[in-house]
Amino acid sequence: MKILHLDLGDRSYPIYIGSGLIDQSDLLKKHIAGQRVAIVTNETVAPLYLAKVRVHLDTLQPLDVILPDGEQYKSLEVLNRVFDALLNAHCDRRTTLIALGGGVIGDMAGFAAASYQRGVPFIQIPTTLLSQVDSSVGGKTGVNHPLGKNMIGAFYQPRAVIIDTDTLDTLPDRELSAGLAEVIKYGLIRDPEFFSWLEHNLDKLLARDAETLAFAIHRSCRNKAEVVAADERESGVRATLNLGHTFGHAIETGLGYGEWLHGEAIAAGMAMATDLSRRLGWLPGADVTRIEKLIRRARLPVRAPGALSPGRFLELMAVDKKVQDGRLRLVLLKRLGEAVVTDEFPRVELEKTLMTMREAA
Ligand code: NAD
Ligand code: GLY
Repeated sequence: MKILHLDLGDRSYPIYIGSGLIDQSDLLKKHIAGQRVAIVTNETVAPLYLAKVRVHLDTLQPLDVILPDGEQYKSLEVLNRVFDALLNAHCDRRTTLIALGGGVIGDMAGFAAASYQRGVPFIQIPTTLLSQVDSSVGGKTGVNHPLGKNMIGAFYQPRAVIIDTDTLDTLPDRELSAGLAEVIKYGLIRDPEFFSWLEHNLDKLLARDAETLAFAIHRSCRNKAEVVAADERESGVRATLNLGHTFGHAIETGLGYGEWLHGEAIAAGMAMATDLSRRLGWLPGADVTRIEKLIRRARLPVRAPGALSPGRFLELMAVDKKVQDGRLRLVLLKRLGEAVVTDEFPRVELEKTLMTMREAA
């Protein structure tokens, strides 16, 4: 097992990464303070892993909260079912919530923990590659709104993140690829050495080589923990973690949640941000080729869906948390391994990116 620490003063917490960690009773139990526990999961993950987590908590009579599976259920309406369950079971402020699942469950359980009785402790047990390398770390929680992705939420840190790499054994290939989008992101925004490592090791990752996956998860979490420790509430550098997200969120909202996977939309969004960075004269064509090639090799899209016109894209992109005083800000690449957040790009160049970086309709 490897342990990283996210350094946030009195809200610091460990990130455990290793094989078989959900079978380690003490690891989970030492982060539970009170006598009540609720496990929030979904109908796909529950039959796979709920019993394995539950067995450690039998004396605490854990409450199971099993939600429907899918990005389309990451909503206030479905979140309310968590509150219904907690209230029906008379859960008090010392109840610990455990998020068992991918990023959808982690974001929803985290937001439930942030708001139930104004805040109860929670623990992340992420079970998708995407949630293990990104969403379980850093305390962004929330739900979607029909008008915008992740628009309702809170910053709220977990007490611990327990990453059992064995859970990836049951993850479908398409979901593994979606997680690789966020892995590639770290190479692009701040870790060029990792980008080169990914070019050399992508086939092993796709083949689920355990050691290679564990390295990529650890390196990704290290990158994320460093950025979040420097800027927990996204007043500066943390926004660079959103490379491709303004484009990607527009795709997710525009197509309807769940049509493209989050990681797929981010992959296309990163290719679009790369294209715009080239148009601004920041990235050479050779780097654009390298970036697109790696994303494609990860079996991810590098073009937006043709169904979204540039005009519609611009409308959707206007609903973004990085918009300030009505001005759209984007994460772009100054070079491979260095990202900036900027509103200084000619609108016409953005329109060219939107026009050219789409699949045929
Ligand atoms: P997800 O949670 O929908 O999980 C993907 C699918 O895999 C689901 O069908 C799920 O039931 C299934 N699954 C989960 N674990 C499994 C396992 N071990 N074996 C088999 N199937 C399994 O999607 P995701 O990609 O994990 O997360 C995407 C979400 O994360 C989006 O809502 C996105 O906005 C959010 N996100 C949040 C942050 C953050 O910082 N909070 C960062 C990135 C993404
Ligand atoms: N996934 C972006 C962030 O956590 O800031």
